[in-house]
Amino acid sequence: MNILVLGSGGREHAITWKIASSPRVEKLYVAPGNAGTRDIAENVAIKADDFDAVADFVRKAKIDMLVVGPEDPLVKGIVDYFEAKPEFANLMLVGPDKLSAQLEGSKEFAKMFMQKYGIPTAKYLSVTAENLSEGEKFLESVNPPYVLKADGLAAGKGVLILDNLDEAKCELKNMLGGKFGSAGNKVVLEQYLDGIECSVFALTDGKSYVLLPEAKDYKRIGEGNTGLNTGGMGSVSPVPFYDKDFAKKVEERIVKPTIDGIRSEGMNYRGFVFFGLMNVKGDPYVIEYNVRMGDPETESVMLRIKADLVELLEAAARRELAGKSIEFDQRAAATVMMVSGGYPEAYEKGKTICGLEKVRDSICFHAGTAVADGNVVTSGGRVIAVSSYGNTIFDALNVSYSSIKNISFDKCYYRTDLGFDLK
Ligand code: AMP
Ligand code: GLY
Repeated sequence: MNILVLGSGGREHAITWKIASSPRVEKLYVAPGNAGTRDIAENVAIKADDFDAVADFVRKAKIDMLVVGPEDPLVKGIVDYFEAKPEFANLMLVGPDKLSAQLEGSKEFAKMFMQKYGIPTAKYLSVTAENLSEGEKFLESVNPPYVLKADGLAAGKGVLILDNLDEAKCELKNMLGGKFGSAGNKVVLEQYLDGIECSVFALTDGKSYVLLPEAKDYKRIGEGNTGLNTGGMGSVSPVPFYDKDFAKKVEERIVKPTIDGIRSEGMNYRGFVFFGLMNVKGDPYVIEYNVRMGDPETESVMLRIKADLVELLEAAARRELAGKSIEFDQRAAATVMMVSGGYPEAYEKGKTICGLEKVRDSICFHAGTAVADGNVVTSGGRVIAVSSYGNTIFDALNVSYSSIKNISFDKCYYRTDLGFDLK
């Protein structure tokens, strides 16, 4: 079949890499893709949220399956757009519709869903300009640190965690006043959950699900999980503390009730569900839902899926996932992200990347690259995700760290301590 993957990051390169290994694929396209995806698929110069242009291409290239990588087009309703057009009745869509995508697009929607279906999550209050004083009382009633979240999508920047009550009250007003634009017209205040995070992924057809390998990502820019939040500095899979007992709690208390909730609500959800979890003294709580795969978790997770991903995506799109399962590769996988100096604040682009061809033992997923004058150059904050197998996550990390020595670009930075908290 002909498949089009939407997106341009490391996640999409990794998904495309896995899809490319399936014998079911005839033609594989990525829109817009990056300098890495062009080696395994055909890049199409279309932005993922230009629905009309995507539709023209789907028609022209006789696409059978559309896999949506990032959240933006989902929250904007790309699935509804295609479903509303009878000519695309046979197109297999992998991604939730606009309403289901609110599980990521609105923190309040996600919280109300979790409350309704008894899914463990932090206590919360939704605040708008109308109930500001109630919000201030909530902040006074919980122990620090204080967690403030812009309700809408804010490019991963809409969450503040603050130690000081007066600062929290002040930031609440700032957020309602437009600090994160309209995403913060509503703010979700949450009780702070103290624990260690991990990411769990399911593929669902809206009724049944299969679980993918779990992972852990490293969000902070600095060693020892310090400094600013980023889009992700690396990942590992499996997660040592995700043992049988914890996995069972996650499935019973979180995954099953979530999929049951999706079914009971009659949500049109076919695609990946990402559970951002906190392990609080052995009990899992949902920090957030995402309606797509995680980045850079995907770069590790795809290495650990043995099954034919296309077969599973087809089953999800056709609502025939019941009875399917995924065989995992028993090896561990790890990803180290090479980023542009200065990221996640201002950084330069257009730096020539050297040495990729020398890497033998890892897979270099491109996160933010482009081609200029025949050279592969940096085009984003996160640049190359270096992913490797190993007997343990620590072996896999070591392989990535040796491979990285071959790769260079001006002002490149990466964390050297990934996995430190799992030893
Ligand atoms: P989110 O965008 O909801 O994933 O939040 C971003 C990050 O903030 C998460 O990955 C957590 O590290 C942290 N965080 C969010 N909510 C909480 C909470 N209730 N307690 C502790 N940390 C949180
Ligand atoms: N790695 C977290 C995310 O993709 O949102």
